[in-house]
Amino acid sequence: MTAGSAMGWVLWSNHQIPLLAQPKFSAYPFSLGVASGDPESNSVVLWTRLAPEPLSGQPMPAVAIPIQWQIATDAQITEVVQQGTVQALPQWGHSVHVVVDNLSPGQWYWYRFQAGDEISPIGRTRTMPASESEAEHLKFAYVSCQHYEYGHYTAYEHLAQEELDLVFHLGDYIYEGKPKSGRPRQHVGPNPIDLKGYRWRYALYKSDPHLQAAHAAFPFICIWDDHEVENDYANDESQGFEEPAMFRRRRQAAYQAYYEHLPLRPTSQPQGDHLQLYRRFCFGNLAEFHCLDTRQYRDDQACDQNGKGGGQVAFNCDERLDPKRSLLGFEQERWLLDGLKNASTSWTVIAQPMLMAELKQGIGPLAGYWTDGWDGYAATRDRILESITQHQPKNPVVIGGDIHSFWVTDLKSDFQDPQSPVVATEIVGTSISSRGPNPDLFTLALKVNPHIKFFESRYRGYVVCEVTPQQWTAQLRVVDQVEKPGAPVRTLASYQIKNGQPGAQRIDG
Ligand SMILES: [Fe+2]
Repeated sequence: MTAGSAMGWVLWSNHQIPLLAQPKFSAYPFSLGVASGDPESNSVVLWTRLAPEPLSGQPMPAVAIPIQWQIATDAQITEVVQQGTVQALPQWGHSVHVVVDNLSPGQWYWYRFQAGDEISPIGRTRTMPASESEAEHLKFAYVSCQHYEYGHYTAYEHLAQEELDLVFHLGDYIYEGKPKSGRPRQHVGPNPIDLKGYRWRYALYKSDPHLQAAHAAFPFICIWDDHEVENDYANDESQGFEEPAMFRRRRQAAYQAYYEHLPLRPTSQPQGDHLQLYRRFCFGNLAEFHCLDTRQYRDDQACDQNGKGGGQVAFNCDERLDPKRSLLGFEQERWLLDGLKNASTSWTVIAQPMLMAELKQGIGPLAGYWTDGWDGYAATRDRILESITQHQPKNPVVIGGDIHSFWVTDLKSDFQDPQSPVVATEIVGTSISSRGPNPDLFTLALKVNPHIKFFESRYRGYVVCEVTPQQWTAQLRVVDQVEKPGAPVRTLASYQIKNGQPGAQRIDG
């Protein structure tokens, strides 16, 4: 796959790795595109990974390859402000995460990479405004759930054309599972269980040109849900009750591949089977984003009533209310509650993968609750909403995904009491391509969940938010189908949140 002469050695973790200074690639090595992410006011991460034959599933030779990078203030990369060389190492799948510091706040930059004679596509990125500075306007989008087999990434094609400062990916960046026929697109390679398998799966997803275009257009802030490892896993419990030590090895491989394919900071580089993913970002004094990890530290799902692992709709299940259980782990909960207590921006955003509002399915004693989501960990939700009530961070908004449908909800101090105050606003975005739930299933449930103002599961898409100190406007953007490429985009509904008034109001009639 790669030829060239060894010109030296690189020392990595007590190993000498041959360095290929003048690599010759069998095919274009930047086949997975470029990306940037985790922006701060003076710094951003630039990402790429060398993969000349991404769909073969075969690794590159175990050599280090130097990659040059450049960042500039113009789209032609003539006004270069910084440049350097990093080593792409086989231990990290020949991915690189370049942290560029000493940048100017609130500014667009363009970047590219070079390996041997090959030059990457040009990416564009943006730093955050200075952390305590007056920021008057933020426009960002959020996405989730991009099952490759269920459709084309038409939503990303349109998202890449939006005018945005930033994109949040709220989880299910890949889906595990073996290839299935009869779907619009097909997975390549086996159901991933080891590093080779997960790298192969990411390579397939990241080979999509529309996903690459979105990454090249904006910085991304990414958190995960479950399918980056396995459906409905909880900490070191697999859905199928695998032996925990074995499942931990699988999770470690999945976490490493996640890091290798996303523009995360080296502070998120996995250590053993742990990856530090929860973190905060400030957009000047306008918005602070508390980004959560709801998988790695959670207690196992409550109320196993059917002998199967993972989530289920559980009835008469008190365990889901147990205050000793946590969705986030108590350390992360403390970190979040501290953050909510000390929040000072105009908007306080919790970016997390799922639907946070209570969703009662059925009536009276026949009511059930989904145990894999926030309803399965109600005490964690209560503690967060109590903290918001107590400390009054300004304009709390929760954004989420996972459920492959749009939801606009009032988060209440007591969901059972329609008179109880609205504590925060929630807007959950639909999937990029993953199949939505049967609308009838939840349309019935809306009758017994009056805090839910909007639900729609028939469309794929994303959410665009425009934020000023006075208001937050959310456009629910949709494409009518993803089975074939080329569907146009439209706005299905628009909601507004006014400064000081929790609860979104529909503004498009
Ligand atoms: Fe999903």
